[in-house]
Amino acid sequence: MKVDVLLGLQWGDEGKGKVVDVLTPRYDVVARFQGGPNAGHTLEFEGQKYILRSIPSGIFQGDKVNIIGNGVVLDPALFKAEAEALEASGHALKERLHISKKAHLILPTHRVLDAAYEAAKGDAKVGTTGKGIGPTYTDKVSRNGVRVGDILENFDQKYAAAKARHEQILKGMNYQYDLTALEKEWMEGIEYLKQFQLVDSEHEINNLLTSGKSVLCEGAQGTMLDIDFGSYPFVTSSNTVCAGACTGLGVAPNKIGDVYGIFKAYCTRVGSGPFPTELFDETGDQICTLGHEFGSVTGRRRRCGWIDLVALRYSIMINGVTKLIMMKSDVLDSFNTIKACVAYKINGEEIDYFPYDITEAVEPVYVELPGWETDMTKMQSEDEFPEEFNAYLDFLEEQLGVAIKIVSVGPDRDQTIERYMEE
Ligand code: GDP
Ligand code: IMO
Ligand code: MG
Repeated sequence: MKVDVLLGLQWGDEGKGKVVDVLTPRYDVVARFQGGPNAGHTLEFEGQKYILRSIPSGIFQGDKVNIIGNGVVLDPALFKAEAEALEASGHALKERLHISKKAHLILPTHRVLDAAYEAAKGDAKVGTTGKGIGPTYTDKVSRNGVRVGDILENFDQKYAAAKARHEQILKGMNYQYDLTALEKEWMEGIEYLKQFQLVDSEHEINNLLTSGKSVLCEGAQGTMLDIDFGSYPFVTSSNTVCAGACTGLGVAPNKIGDVYGIFKAYCTRVGSGPFPTELFDETGDQICTLGHEFGSVTGRRRRCGWIDLVALRYSIMINGVTKLIMMKSDVLDSFNTIKACVAYKINGEEIDYFPYDITEAVEPVYVELPGWETDMTKMQSEDEFPEEFNAYLDFLEEQLGVAIKIVSVGPDRDQTIERYMEE
């Protein structure tokens, strides 16, 4: 068997959690391969809303196995809070959630370092989620990290050495902090983590594939936040692209099957960094209000704008997307006109590819399309789609060169419409 990968094509928050939950019944296993509690994946069903940060979004569907892979960074304190809340609401986890011993631990001092580095950057700050993601991946790459497997042996020594190194850096930065509460929660998280199945997830996944089991890999963040291909330096610190599933789970490239690319019918971004189609007018406010565009982790207002097809084509290329999924179509239900950016103009010259640097000189070139002005939230099949909406889908498919197989018309699991999926 092969693994399918589902990932965000924009700047995150495309609706990955919702769709992973919808697709999970077709798979035996769901696995996260990168990122950490900077992610906030929202799922809604049976009148309940859940926000997952480190736990894969397949956890609500029956007895499916969910894996946290080696490419993920895990904060034991946040993990404990998330897992206990799920168990309290009747979703038993311990048998079904397996955690890679090679995943790196986010230490309390990583969170402090994240805040200290952001403060030092001043106006040039990245606008991180403050969860210690950058410093943890930095330690991983510089071969100073502490891994989940380390909690089983000589842990106190490894923790103390890492903490001492971080404290030295913070002292040099003259940064004031208090670790007491953070550290207490964190140590409780470490004890809690020991109750879970800590595994060699690369062996587990490959054995599952060999025995004919199907796996869905759940991306976090989005392609435009990828450490290599995103709008650097305003990015996260991991490979959010499809290749990240190979390194973050130990899956060989020739084992990748379908790549689901997920995008909003418009575009959002949270944190600093370039965003060519950002709207600063009433339309932007309207999208924000109708789409409830506030961060699920930090509560920050998401910046909103029109869909950017230049960036989407780039994301599709990097990821090898085979199937597209369009989310939050309903947010545009009341618009009379919809705009789509098809090219950029830089100093008077038009380009249709994503350039090295997105500066203020980049101006979006828009095509205008008629809105459908119809409430789509209760629709159940593509036969009900208004003509203008079908025209928008046709236009996007032609521009992007990949079929849109799923359309989402609301946050609930049931507000999901498939289009010619059998192909
Ligand atoms: P993720 O990080 O990619 O999983 O996305 P988030 O959960 O951070 O953000 C997506 C938000 O949009 C959540 O609040 C979802 O409940 C909501 N959502 C998902 N799909 C739809 C949709 O089709 N329509 C509307 N209105 N909301 C949606
Ligand atoms: P999901 O999985 C949207 C953004 C932050 C910041 C940058 C770096 O829910 O789509 P970090 O804390 O990772 O060092 O922050 O990346 N960011 C996200 N934006 N959705 C996310 O995750 C994000 N995770 C990180 O706002 O700009
Ligand atoms: Mg999110």
